[in-house]
Amino acid sequence: MTDASPPPAAPAPRVISGIQASGALHLGNYLGALKRFTAFQDIAPTLVFVADLHALTAWQDPAKLADQTREIAAAFMASGMDPARAVIFPQSAVHEHAELAWVLNCVARVGWLDRMTQFKDKAGRDKEGASVGLYSYPVLQAADILLYKATRVPVGEDQKQHLELTRDIAQKFNNDFGDARGGPGFFPLPEPIIEGPATRVMSLRDGTSKMSKSDPSDQSRINLTDAPDAILNKVKRAKTDPLPLPETVEGLAGRPEADNLVGLYAALTGVTKAQVLARFGGQGFGAFKPALAEAAVEALRPVSAELRRLLADPAEIDRVLSAGADAAREIAAPTLDEVKRLVGFWRG
Ligand code: ADP
Ligand code: TRP
Repeated sequence: MTDASPPPAAPAPRVISGIQASGALHLGNYLGALKRFTAFQDIAPTLVFVADLHALTAWQDPAKLADQTREIAAAFMASGMDPARAVIFPQSAVHEHAELAWVLNCVARVGWLDRMTQFKDKAGRDKEGASVGLYSYPVLQAADILLYKATRVPVGEDQKQHLELTRDIAQKFNNDFGDARGGPGFFPLPEPIIEGPATRVMSLRDGTSKMSKSDPSDQSRINLTDAPDAILNKVKRAKTDPLPLPETVEGLAGRPEADNLVGLYAALTGVTKAQVLARFGGQGFGAFKPALAEAAVEALRPVSAELRRLLADPAEIDRVLSAGADAAREIAAPTLDEVKRLVGFWRG
């Protein structure tokens, strides 16, 4: 027998992810995020939320924001999130997010935020004109995750840097406040889950830039609500190169558009890129594109049908969001309470 203390217990698994309540969702959001979330709800407590506080970092029409929130909630459900098994809620309805974000704003360093590439991309050249919220947005994201002591965060590739920052903030909070009064591991360090064939779906007009809501060209993306005709058209007009498809995955190197379309077909049909090339290698895009369009139409058909069905009953969506907010608050409130104790706020 040794008297070594037992190893610290692993933190209880919990999964969380959010999607901003801004603009229409596209195939990148679906394959890189929405569709992947559903796998978690049976294996760990899972929360997904509509990031409306985050949406406010760019101008949102107040007359539309609540409907945008309902649309994202409906998209979670249409993609397979089940309100009976997972918590689905609007971020702004759980005030603990904003409160914890303030404390974490005082933990995070300006130098850390200065390195965030998404701020540079989104602020563009008019950095001075961007909102302060856009700058401190990753700290709010850290609060979203740490408030629930989440251990796993499924996201697309573009969120990797924000997850690294979240871990740095958690670590510094634990060092500054945890050791003395709360034990060293107050916040578990969350793991980003960036897996699968579609963590970075690229634009249909340019294989080197990400498919995004903010791209001014609607031709660059397939929206979840696009009709089959529109999908067919967009795929037909997608940028390609003049060569036939290669026989091997290595042959996709240096061919970003071909790589993207092959990756999309793989993700949509649940096969590997090698399997796609085993079937289409040597053929031109003229043969491949109709098959790809067909795969996209078939994959999105049930999702967009369910989305339309859910959106026809906003009261039902509101019931889900309201119950979700209650459930989220039950987890969030004790964490925030502990944080207040750890930093030494007056508690009456
Ligand atoms: P957008 O960049 O279009 O504004 P969001 O920032 O709201 O999308 O992203 C919501 C989720 O979708 C995040 O997990 C993000 O990583 C994922 N995502 C966004 N665009 C893509 C893409 N092109 N490919 C894969 N995942 C993506
Ligand atoms: N920043 C994420 C995005 O733009 C959305 C988001 C906000 C998020 N808070 C989060 C994702 C917490 C995961 C966990 O896509």
